[in-house]
Amino acid sequence: MFNKISDEYIKSVFDHAAKKYDVMNDIMSVGMHRMWKNFMVKICNPKPHSIVLDLAGGTGDLTIKFAQKLKDSGKIFLVDSNKSMLTVGKKKIRNFGLIKNIYYIQASAENLPFANFSFDVAAISFGLRNMCNQEKSLRSVFRVLKTGGKLVILEFSKPYSEVLKKLYSVYSFSFPYVGLLLFNNSFSYRYLIKSVQTYYDQKHLKKIIRASGFNKISHFNLLGGIASIHVGFKTTLY
Ligand SMILES: C[S@@+](CC[C@H](N)C(=O)[O-])C[C@H]1O[C@@H](n2cnc3c(N)ncnc32)[C@H](O)[C@@H]1O
Repeated sequence: MFNKISDEYIKSVFDHAAKKYDVMNDIMSVGMHRMWKNFMVKICNPKPHSIVLDLAGGTGDLTIKFAQKLKDSGKIFLVDSNKSMLTVGKKKIRNFGLIKNIYYIQASAENLPFANFSFDVAAISFGLRNMCNQEKSLRSVFRVLKTGGKLVILEFSKPYSEVLKKLYSVYSFSFPYVGLLLFNNSFSYRYLIKSVQTYYDQKHLKKIIRASGFNKISHFNLLGGIASIHVGFKTTLY
């Protein structure tokens, strides 16, 4: 794991990246993150009138997809600790003509400012890896989920084939250079790739989710395990 990363460091990574984050995401994932997020929303499958948490929601891709699915029913809370990411997200979401029932909250996952048993679904896409205290964050999500509520996490993982591992590591080696060339920002992308390389594998993440209180945990590998989606449920009161 990428130890000793402070909240201030993460803040400066995303302050630097916010304005170009969406373009860079498309370039670096070759548009793949869009398909993965569509799949994630299918797995979240929020019912009409659901209360949904898009945690570490950044520039709001998931919030847009949830809002389109829920139409005007339910509520979506886009929560992120970074003001610059939220500002970009809010503008983008409004450009999609989505205004109703979306709430923007600047807060840290570790200390969510919501009452116990508030949400039906909590989704975290490419956010958990960046949280300084992931177990504390997941326990905080557990607290605010309703009993029976669902946690869905999309995150980079470990490819299971050796060939894919090698190809992926060569490909990701280029990220900071692409960041520097296109966006004059190698700093954020050096961090992002390091955080992916040093992140947990699928099994280890499952253990962390379980240790945070969740049950019935399963996962889906995406693109040979380059990314994965983990699902867990809050089946007990606490
Ligand atoms: C890689 S971006 C992902 C954004 C978006 N979910 C997506 O999939 O495109 C990671 C986000 O996590 C946010 N973040 C990092 N640590 C956080 C924390 N402790 N609490 C809330 N958000 C956090 C960052 O500010 C950033 O917006």
